[in-house]
Amino acid sequence: MESNAVSAHEPNRRLELTPERMRELGYRAVDMVVSHLATLRQQSVGRTAPRAELEKLLRKPPPEQPAAPLDVLEALGRDVLPNTLHVNHPRFFGFIPSPGNYVSAVADFLAAGFNVFAGTWLAGSAVAEIELVTIDWLRQFCGLPETAGGLFVSGGSVANLTGLAVARQVRLGGRTAGAVVYYSDQTHSAVERGLRTLGFEPPQLRKIPADRRLRLSPETVRREIAADRAAGRVPFCLVANVGTTNTGAVDPLPELAALCRDERLWLHADGAYGAAAALSPRARPLLAGLEQTDSLALDPHKWLFQPFEIGCLLVRQAGWLRQTFTVHPEYMKDTFRPEAEPNFCEWGVQLTRSTRALKLWMSLKVFGVDAFRRAITEGLGLAELAEAELRRRPGWRIVTPAQLAIVSFRYEPSGMPPEDSEAINRRLVEKMRDDGFALLTSTILNEQTVLRLCTINPRTTHDDIRQTIARLAGAV
Ligand SMILES: Cc1ncc(COP(=O)(O)O)c(C=O)c1O
Repeated sequence: MESNAVSAHEPNRRLELTPERMRELGYRAVDMVVSHLATLRQQSVGRTAPRAELEKLLRKPPPEQPAAPLDVLEALGRDVLPNTLHVNHPRFFGFIPSPGNYVSAVADFLAAGFNVFAGTWLAGSAVAEIELVTIDWLRQFCGLPETAGGLFVSGGSVANLTGLAVARQVRLGGRTAGAVVYYSDQTHSAVERGLRTLGFEPPQLRKIPADRRLRLSPETVRREIAADRAAGRVPFCLVANVGTTNTGAVDPLPELAALCRDERLWLHADGAYGAAAALSPRARPLLAGLEQTDSLALDPHKWLFQPFEIGCLLVRQAGWLRQTFTVHPEYMKDTFRPEAEPNFCEWGVQLTRSTRALKLWMSLKVFGVDAFRRAITEGLGLAELAEAELRRRPGWRIVTPAQLAIVSFRYEPSGMPPEDSEAINRRLVEKMRDDGFALLTSTILNEQTVLRLCTINPRTTHDDIRQTIARLAGAV
């Protein structure tokens, strides 16, 4: 019987497919991705399925017997992929979207297909060179000195963790006792999680209430530092936000950098989503001071349009990475190289690692940096358009104006009791999610629910924004 199941006649026990079957599966997968991407605007923003439904659909014993690859692919397309939110959808405005791009998806496929090992120069020399080059491009975009270096990691959380580990090593010799870290209450939870992972305890963390513009006030930090010094503690590191997740606020970097110099503090910046805006001439002035950071986390899987997972850490002196992470086990002795040929496994916590650099490098080459620059600038304008659309409708209050492609707002008509307005705003998020046309998420600012749109997808049109605001108004 003719079947496309992997049969005993095929080299299944070697976990191989025949070249024909490999092509068939690969071409079909490409077709699925291309159809998905080409019709994304016409689709809903995706679906969150209830656990019970997914258990029924997907809970099966381990599959002892082989199945036809195309059947498995079909089930994936039917049962799995539609039951996710499409974070690359042009009307996905929630959290920080990940617009992604097709070229980088192909690069990820190539990286997996060739299974390139990017942990050592010996195994992955050319991809290590591509990582050095691509990291250097990001260094240039952010204005860090030529002494700077960095590496790609899984995302912003690990980039922050890695940067803070470097700070701890370089400034404290790895000891945390008595050291204090300063950051605002608008800082992403990844920073606190990273600090906890590194052994800092709650009394060592100064989470300082942000000012009226939701930025870290240098004066307040200065007072906290003085109090800590007076109490015999060791002020050690300040974490600045380069685009908060809540509102896109950027902490006053030049003043904070000066403060860190005066007080001999390490300046780490979390630019997971915002630092990419350094590429846009419109946003660049907002990010002044970025070049003065000792370590900087940024996330190409956000505003540099890469598919998950790719985060990046840049540090002011490339040598700090080795100083923090090098260990030389005997079974790796064949991999030791001259310093000019680095082993990225000595620059971070991962030994075995894929080449995340490849996708960023390939997409920058295919589209060109100017396309990225324009795409980022376009995102800034989309949030401004959303703000303008909301301002001209009665009942809507702009809570924070468009900054770094985030606008936050509330439905709050005059005379409406605060509890009612709170309930309406909460309900709006659910209504929009149920509707599926566009997705936005909420946050809390000054103890109130606030809606926010993050408009970093370069495929979002002005019409998408206008229609989304109209639907939102219609859902009140
Ligand atoms: C400002 C900021 N920092 C850190 C993170 C964490 O990054 P990741 O989710 O890539 O680990 C995010 C994620 O949205 C973020 O917006």
